[in-house]
Parts: sequence; structure tokens; C-alpha cells
Amino acid sequence: MPGGDPGIPQAERGHNIWSRRDLASLAGWGAILTCFAAVGGAIVRLLFPRVLFEPPTAFKAGYPNEYTIGDVSEKWMKSQRVWIIRTQSNIYALLGICTHLGCTPRWLGPENKFKCPCHGSGYTKDGINFEGPTPRPLERVKISLGDDGQLIIDKAFRFRYELGQWDDPTAFVKYNGV
Ligand code: FES
Repeated sequence: MPGGDPGIPQAERGHNIWSRRDLASLAGWGAILTCFAAVGGAIVRLLFPRVLFEPPTAFKAGYPNEYTIGDVSEKWMKSQRVWIIRTQSNIYALLGICTHLGCTPRWLGPENKFKCPCHGSGYTKDGINFEGPTPRPLERVKISLGDDGQLIIDKAFRFRYELGQWDDPTAFVKYNGV
């Protein structure tokens, strides 16, 4: 076999551009670059963490004297799902989420009650359940007076009657102005 490579079959000799060694080297580099790309991608992900931007839970609800004693204000129901109720001496905010399965109850003024259209749960103006399948009252949310005298409602803080939380000083605002 003069001039030939005894380890390589005749058919393979002179026809391949890439030797086996070249291919192995190429595969190795490919693996290394893939690792670098994966690590680089992970580092970039760490620099830009996935942040969930939720709408703010707190909002200004105007001045206390904008609310009428004895009324259930639906001013913020559509945008914030909160009713604001003023009594002779207090103002409180009820969350418009049925405590049965989460539907949105409606305020029925002539019947002086909240009524859930889904399964018929009913609540008094205070938010106490008295009919239908719901097991507990509506929840109240945090209410306070801001420095500018406006009511601030914060839905991130909820108060449950059955846990005695409606007596919390931030579950209502004392107000008997005109
Ligand atoms: S969700 Fe309101 S009664 Fe069922």
C-alpha cells in the first residue's frame, strides 16, 4: 500500500473535507458554546426578574362630606368594587365580593339589602349575611383619612366580622361632620 494510510479505508480517503478529529473538535466547541449561551441567558434573566405589576390597591375616595348619612354609595363600585356607607357617626367600606363564591352582589336600595345574583345570598347594609348559601358576612376594607382630608381606601387590608375585625380602628372612620 504505497503512500496510503492503512487506518483509513480507501473509500473514505480523499473524499471528506472534515476528518473525524475535526468533527469531534467541532462538536466539543458546540457544546461549550451552548453551555455559555445557557449560562449567559440565566444571568440575563437574573438581571431582569419577572415582576408582576398589579393595579394599586389603595385609592382616594373624596371627602367624607361627599357621602350622605344612611346611603350606600356606589360611586366606586364599578372601578374599585367597593361600596362606601356612611352612618350617623362612621364611614366604612364594603368589598363587593360575595363571600359564597365570589360573584358581585348588587345593592337593592328599595329592599335595603345587597343581593348576589349567582345563588341568591343576601346581606344587610352592614354587610351581614342573612339569606342564601353564603356562610359569612361581606368583608370590609381599610379606610382612613389622608392628610388632605380625603378618605383613603386600601383593599389590601380586609376585615372579617366573624373574627371580630370590624372593631379594628382602621376598619372605619369616625365622622359626624356635615
Ligand atoms: S356567589 Fe354569591 S351567592 Fe353564590
